[in-house]
This record gives sequence, structure tokens and C-alpha cells, in this order.
Amino acid sequence: MEKRLYNFAAGPSAMPPEVLERAQKDMLCYPGAGCSVMEMSHRSKPFMKIRDAAEESIRRLMDIPGDYAVLFLQGGASLQFSMVPMNLAPRGALTAYSVTGNFAKKAWEEACRWGDARIVASSEEDGFRHIPKIKAGDVPEDAAYLHITGNNTIFGTCYGELPFGGMKDAPVPLVADWSSAILGLEIDVRKHTLIYAGAQKNLGPAGLTLVIVKKDALLAFPDPVVPTMLRYEPQIKADSMYNTPPCWSIYMAGLMFEWAEAQGGVRALERRNREKAALLYGAIDSSEIFENKVAAEDRSITNVVFTLPDKELTDRFAALCEDSGIINIKGHRLVGGFRASLYNGVSMEAVRTLTELMKDFERGL
Ligand SMILES: Cc1ncc(COP(=O)(O)O)c(C=O)c1O
Repeated sequence: MEKRLYNFAAGPSAMPPEVLERAQKDMLCYPGAGCSVMEMSHRSKPFMKIRDAAEESIRRLMDIPGDYAVLFLQGGASLQFSMVPMNLAPRGALTAYSVTGNFAKKAWEEACRWGDARIVASSEEDGFRHIPKIKAGDVPEDAAYLHITGNNTIFGTCYGELPFGGMKDAPVPLVADWSSAILGLEIDVRKHTLIYAGAQKNLGPAGLTLVIVKKDALLAFPDPVVPTMLRYEPQIKADSMYNTPPCWSIYMAGLMFEWAEAQGGVRALERRNREKAALLYGAIDSSEIFENKVAAEDRSITNVVFTLPDKELTDRFAALCEDSGIINIKGHRLVGGFRASLYNGVSMEAVRTLTELMKDFERGL
């Protein structure tokens, strides 16, 4: 088998080898089914068991209360940029957005197609290097919800605390895109009305979008113009099988959930992720050449961005990474430099290898 390299991709990203090995083992013939998961009907007993087990597992992992629906959808987190306003806000209604990065801005842009989406906080002026504080009074009380992007994958920032401490004290319901931190960080579902996440980071391969939504928050009469496939309700009624679901991605997510539970759950994973992030930020902070320009209190433990002073050093370090078996570490084109994504599937050994390489590189200058 070819050697697996140290993969710091932002998504799709590294998955635990145990999960991939298990999928490999079951790939040709799923136990008791006589065929692969890719070949079975989504209405078949084995698949229904796979789907139900995945839902039960994510409910345990995130302590999801019974009055929240768990949906396995398609279309990526990006489709949620449209589905959220269409299902939570009447057409033309006021909604509030905190713009903390590229994806947050896209979410706001899509909401503008539907209604009066207002930016109530933004960090665009400083290149999205911090999370703006949202004060009481910033969010109009008649807004249908406040939307935040919990972790900003490109810019390496994350909400340490939810605005207003979450839904309990918030003047309006809280909706959050937690695509790049879900299952890597403890998230209090009860403080949210809706959480969504593209799977391709901590939940498995691409092709699946997880939505967790408080059922009573959905509009009783969504605008009739909203296509059936863009409504949550038919999917809730059909256990996410209004049409053929992304069966393989659900199966893989189920394996990821099982793995996460075996690791001790989200608390244990977060602890491990904090250790990985502390090691890498420590290496950056003690360096004379590597730099992280994000406000210290808003640093993401998932996506660590860093730069070198000039293009020559950047190219040299990139080449060194490539020669040393470190892949997918280039920063997003909007930011440049480097980005190491430390999802659950990225080992401490990978982070140690990277930090040692950074030190060797600096010593050798
Ligand atoms: C925070 C965040 N939101 C949304 C997206 C878009 O996700 P998708 O490609 O699943 O539509 C991404 C993709 O990386 C992301 O990181």
C-alpha cells in the first residue's frame, strides 16, 4: 500500500485510518446484506439500520434533545445558505447576519435573495482577522434569527462564546454554520435553533450535510414558492428520505460517529484538538519568522493559518513540506501563506512533524 502522508487539508480532509479500514473491509459486501452499501436500496432493512444508528449516535455525541430534528441532506453547507431563510423567515422578512468570513458573506448574500438580510456585525475591514462582538441592541428584535459562522475555515477564527451566550439570552433565535468545528468542539445544541454542517471535515466524506433544527422554529406555512426539496418539513417527515439520500456518505458518517464515541466523545476530541492547536500556535508564537495574524482570543483550534515574511521563504517552506510528506497545507487563495487544518482525523504525530519541520527550517536560515 502507498504511504499515507500527513494531510492538513481544510475539507475534504483527513479521516481516521480505522474508519477507512472498516469501510474497506465492508466495501464489497456489507455484513448480512449480500452487497455493498453502495448497492443496496435506501429503503432496505440494512440501510435503515445504518441510518437509524447514525442518527442515534450523533444524538448521543451532541446531546441533541428530542424536540430537534436531525437531517441528513445533500447540497453542502452552501445549500443551507438558502434553505435557512426559506424555512425560518417569511419572504421579505428581516434576518440578521454576522459576517466573519467568505462563507458567512455567501450565507448573507443568499439570504438577501429571500428577504431583508442585514449585516449586524462584520470583520471584513480587518481582513476577517477577528470575531466582532455583537452587543445587545445590534440585532433588531424583529429579526427572524441571527446567523453566525461558528468557525471560519479560511481565516482561522472561531467564536469562543456564542453571541449573548446563545439562545437563552439572545433576543432572536441563533442559527450557526458549524461546518468546520462540529464534533471537534463541544457545541451546546440547546443554545441554537438550527445548526448545519457540511460533512467533509469531521463527519466523513463530502456529499452529506447535517442539519439539526428545533422543530417548532420552522414556519408553519413556508412560502409556497419554496420547492419541496428545499423544505425541511418533508425531509423531517420522511426521516431524510423524501428522495434517495446520500447513502454511502451517511454510512461513512455513521462510522465516523462510532469512532468519535469510541474516542470518548466530543469532550475528549476537543481536548485532543486543543493540545494539537496549542502545539502549533506555540511553534508559531515562539518563531521569529512564522506569524499568525488572528486576534489571539478568536483563534480557531481547527484551522490554523500562518504566514512567512516573503514569497521566497513561503515557496521554500512549501517545497520542504512537500519533500517531507506534508500535504494540503497551502493557505486559501484569499489569504495566502499556510493553513493547517487540525480535524479529528489529524494525529498529534502529524502536528509534531509539522512543528519540528518549522523549527528546522528556521534554524537552517
Ligand atoms: C464554514 C463553512 N461553511 C460553508 C462551507 C461550504 O460548504 P459546502 O462546500 O459543503 O457547500 C464551507 C466549506 O469549506 C465552510 O468551511
